[in-house]
Amino acid sequence: MEALYGGALHRRVTILDLQAAKKSGEKWVMLTSYEQMTAEIFDEAGIPVLLVGDSAGNNFLGFENTIAVTVDELIPLTRSVVRASKRALVIADLPFGSYETSPEQALATSTRFFKEAGAMGVKLEGAHIQTIEKLTSSGIPVMGHVGLTPQSLHQLGGYRVQGRSDGDAILDAALAIEKAGAFAIVLELIPAQLAARITAALAIPTIGIGAGINCDAQVLVWTDLVGITKNPPKLAKAYRNLRSEITAAASEFALDVKSGNFPGPAQTFN
Ligand code: KIV
Repeated sequence: MEALYGGALHRRVTILDLQAAKKSGEKWVMLTSYEQMTAEIFDEAGIPVLLVGDSAGNNFLGFENTIAVTVDELIPLTRSVVRASKRALVIADLPFGSYETSPEQALATSTRFFKEAGAMGVKLEGAHIQTIEKLTSSGIPVMGHVGLTPQSLHQLGGYRVQGRSDGDAILDAALAIEKAGAFAIVLELIPAQLAARITAALAIPTIGIGAGINCDAQVLVWTDLVGITKNPPKLAKAYRNLRSEITAAASEFALDVKSGNFPGPAQTFN
């Protein structure tokens, strides 16, 4: 199996590559993407996994949180990310209300993401064991998600660190999700020591967000990564401040037009 980074992978990353990375100890990253431009850029940067997260709800579609976003809203975004990427494994997040009723409902929703958008796997929140079994036995790779599961925001009483007193329950859920056939699992907002225990106990890769350094991989929401998010969560790190860059570009454009400096000769046709 080729390495995820360094080697020239001229094909899509697969879940087998991620399994191999776990075995060899190679760390990797996942980024969210909701449209063509970021998908193209992250793919060219060699990011091996792109997640069309339901975080599109509060980072792209203008909702307060992830709960309102629908399958019909996420399918065109997923299609766009698949079309714009050549190498990344593209995972679609199953939105709230689209998979909890039954394994059959989850299979019907996932089938839409596969057929209509070209998704290569789905992510779902919580220990829906029979559903994960149904999907994986139907040929649909599943990424699990435990710890803080934002679709249960109101049940959890807010965006709070999970597993401080019930760490074993989260470990047990992760083990059951692995046994059901998931190929990877997101660990969100849990103590670093608990994430390290889970990572050591599982044969599948763990992908941390607010879960410390000892996960196999890390994920960030792309708007947090580049410093566009207005009020970023504590778990995020902004590697650039694009909010101020974009603000400056927009303001300079407006000033240039007001002062008669745009369009200039380079943008003018005779
Ligand atoms: O929707 C999302 O962006 C996510 C990641 C934070 C894992 O679920």
